[in-house]
This record gives sequence, structure tokens and C-alpha cells, in this order.
Amino acid sequence: MDWGMRNRLSKIIKPKTGRTVMLAVDHGYFLGPTTGLENFRESIEPLIPYCDTLFITRGMLRTCVNPNIEVPVMLRASGGTSILGKELLHEGVTLSVEDAIRLNAVGIGYSILVGADWERDTILDFANYVNEAERYGLIAMAVTAVGKDMAKDARYLALASRMAAEHGAHIVKTYYCEGFEKVVDTCPVPIVMAGGKKIPELDALTMAYNAVQAGAVGVDMGRNIFQSESPVAMIKAIRAVIQENATPKEALGVFKENKGKFRKPAHRKSGVAAKDDSAKV
Ligand code: R5P
Repeated sequence: MDWGMRNRLSKIIKPKTGRTVMLAVDHGYFLGPTTGLENFRESIEPLIPYCDTLFITRGMLRTCVNPNIEVPVMLRASGGTSILGKELLHEGVTLSVEDAIRLNAVGIGYSILVGADWERDTILDFANYVNEAERYGLIAMAVTAVGKDMAKDARYLALASRMAAEHGAHIVKTYYCEGFEKVVDTCPVPIVMAGGKKIPELDALTMAYNAVQAGAVGVDMGRNIFQSESPVAMIKAIRAVIQENATPKEALGVFKENKGKFRKPAHRKSGVAAKDDSAKV
């Protein structure tokens, strides 16, 4: 890894702690107006000061995010299918490396689909994307996408995560599972945990705690933050777990202490995506 790449990686994973709180708000690329992100700008603006990296699509970055933000940005670079289509997850390249650089991204995220019909396409495209990303020193994060009916166990997630690293991923984003140590221990690059569908706050904090105890460098979490009754209180609580080693109980205290102070923006109920946000992930 050259200087530029190491420098970009240090923007994502904070050198002081070796940890990161990535805020995932890219869901609209296949879900449209996802519950909690209907009014995107209003929803994410108060969360940005508490994340270490923003994971987002280029369209929402350009239209809804103030360019003066201080947090680094990672851009979703794969997509092409929607929640309504028959081939959900048969993704291809949606963002050029040049545009990622123009937007001053430190890295990109790309989904691979191990063990499903389109694994070959998504893995070859990802490996080619890494070739391009490395030419310019961009960090490539592989997302081990899992279809609705696929197992999210340690055997499968270790296989997918290790494959991602073998094909050149610099970071792997995967799901938490029982025996997560195996996933982390057999993957030579840093792992961040995706949050998955919304669960009670204490459960999400416990899952994040267990993931970092097992060796993950942090989270790339979305719905468990922006769908919480108080997204700001929740990101502060997650931050306490990841960056301050708080226990789940201590972090729940942070959540409770802050939830009255930060009101959630009011949204109108909307659309297709609001009914089924969890079909893919
Ligand atoms: C997954 O492919 C999406 O890109 C999300 O970024 C990811 O699932 C993390 O968000 P959540 O914590 O809501 O699962």
C-alpha cells in the first residue's frame, strides 16, 4: 500500500483507536426512499458530526450534502438492480473511479454476491474495480451482500470475506454472526460490521460491541441508526461502543441520556421501500 492509500485508510479507520464508525446511508440505490431517509438532507445532517466516514451514493452526496463537511466520504460503486426487479443483487459498476476522485472520495464500496447465481459477474467486476482503484490509491471496500434466503453464518461469511480480501479488498464489510471471530481471524484486512435490519437499540449496541470484541475495526451501520427513535442519540451510543470501548449497558445509558435532547425529523410515510427495507440485507 503506497502513501496515498495509507493516508486515505487513516481517514477512515482512526489511527488513535484503530476503529471507525461509518454511517451507511446508501440504501436508496436499490430501495429508493428508504424509511428514515425520506428527507435525506434533514435526516443525515445532524448525524454527520458523529461519524468517522460517510458511506453514500454520488447522487445524494452531490445534491444533499454540504461540501464543507469534515468527514471523509466513501461512495457506493455498484448497483443496477432494485427491490422491484427479479435480479436483486445482480450488480455492476455504477461509478467511475474518476468520478469518485472528482468527488474527493477516500474510497468506494462494492457488493459481491458469493454463492448466488451472479457470483462470477460480481466478483470479476469487483476485482477489475480494485485494479482501477489501486491505480489512483482509492480504498476499495467489498460488501459481502447476502440475499434474503441465504445463510448469514460464520462458515458462509468467512468464505465471502476471505474471498473479498483475496481479490484485493482493502476493507470488508460483512454481517455479524455467531462465531464472528472466525470471520475476522481468517480475513487479513480490516472488517466492519453492517448493521442489518432495525432491532431494539440495546440489541444493536450489543451486536456492535460483540463485533469489535471479536476483532472488527468498527461498523458501517445504517438502519439501526437512522430508523432509531432518536438517530443522534443512537449514533452517539454506537460511537461510545466503538471509539470509547463502552459496554452495551453504558452505551444504552448514552442513548437514554441523549434521546430526549435530539428530536427525530418528522417524515411523511412514503412509498414502496418503506414497506420492505429488509428484503436484501
Ligand atoms: C448494503 O448493501 C447497504 O449498502 C448498506 O450500506 C448496508 O446494508 C449497511 O446498512 P445497514 O446497517 O442498514 O444494514
